[in-house]
Amino acid sequence: MIQPYQNYQLRYKNEKERIKSIVYEAGMSDQFILKEKVARLEEKIKEYTGAPYATAVSNGTSALIIILKALGVKPGVDVLTPAFSFIATASCISLLGGNPIFVDIDKKTGMIDPDDVKRKITPSSRVIIAAHLFSVMANMHRLRDIADEHGLFLVEDSAVALGGTIDGVSAGLLGDIGLYSFFPAKPIGGIGDGGMIVTKDDELAARCKMLRNHGQEAGKRFYHTLIGYNYRMDELVADFITQRLEQLEQIIETRGELAELYHKELASSATYVSLPPKTEYQRVYYTYLVQAEYRDELQSFLEEKGIETVVFYPLAIHEQKAYQHLGHQQGDFPNAEQFASKSLAFPLYPEMRHADVRQITERVNEFYAAKQH
Ligand SMILES: Cc1ncc(COP(=O)(O)O)c(C=O)c1O
Repeated sequence: MIQPYQNYQLRYKNEKERIKSIVYEAGMSDQFILKEKVARLEEKIKEYTGAPYATAVSNGTSALIIILKALGVKPGVDVLTPAFSFIATASCISLLGGNPIFVDIDKKTGMIDPDDVKRKITPSSRVIIAAHLFSVMANMHRLRDIADEHGLFLVEDSAVALGGTIDGVSAGLLGDIGLYSFFPAKPIGGIGDGGMIVTKDDELAARCKMLRNHGQEAGKRFYHTLIGYNYRMDELVADFITQRLEQLEQIIETRGELAELYHKELASSATYVSLPPKTEYQRVYYTYLVQAEYRDELQSFLEEKGIETVVFYPLAIHEQKAYQHLGHQQGDFPNAEQFASKSLAFPLYPEMRHADVRQITERVNEFYAAKQH
């Protein structure tokens, strides 16, 4: 590939000694899991986001499971969740025996539609999950109002939105509880799996901390207050993320500049490509996702030219085989289905040069220019 979707070799090229020393230090310290370095990362995330409580966990998916478990999701409990998202936004509900109640997305933003949330609320509803995807954030103000009006918890799946803010409040703290993923492809980009739960609620935070480590209260080894999981974070991962956090502002800025360049260079294909919607808040470009006419043809064309793109996501969640048992039909969530049929993400990573973006956009424009004739 001339233009790969990610380029981790570039990210780590000059990091050899630093990474070796992180591994060596962890090994020599006798401290491998949930120790000082994890506690230090939790403090750093609290500082960076303004969260009163932070709980480091093994990944974003385990964060979601812990959160939903802490909120009492179990058989018979309904959780409203977007029909278009990463599968974990729904599967974590199912894994706890709860019922995912799919909600359509807003046609323009691609995020959960507050009007459809209202339509889907029933007496069995307990939680709304709002996911921020790609670089767009859900309409948290309206969702907060709806959740309050109906006495529901509002979970913010901010797995990909660390660094984003609405009116100065960090993604993750706009609902009752939120999370970040440190998976290598995410904006901060870890060196393996990792996640973090953030909240302003002390009781919820305490429950999450117990649930991540077999239901133990801190300092009370082998005394189990809750039935919990082993969803702990390793010291190695924590040290790496703590160091990377220092670069996050720069990473976000660079990602934003690359996205701006995409906007500018793709303007001539505007009839065929809907660019990421304009927003008022500080966004974090996790991917550069467009809605593209002739999407599959464009993807093949780019691949032939050595440009790798990714379809996020090829199916809405109710269309996945794993959810066929719910009996949803084609057309039940038309905006989600439409998004799944047109979404395409172009490469966007902080080590990219402007010339790389131009090489990609020239090919995209060439593809659509041919369609005009
Ligand atoms: C919206 C969303 N939620 C949750 C997750 C799960 O995070 P992890 O991969 O760390 O388990 C992801 C990961 O891609 C995601 O995109």
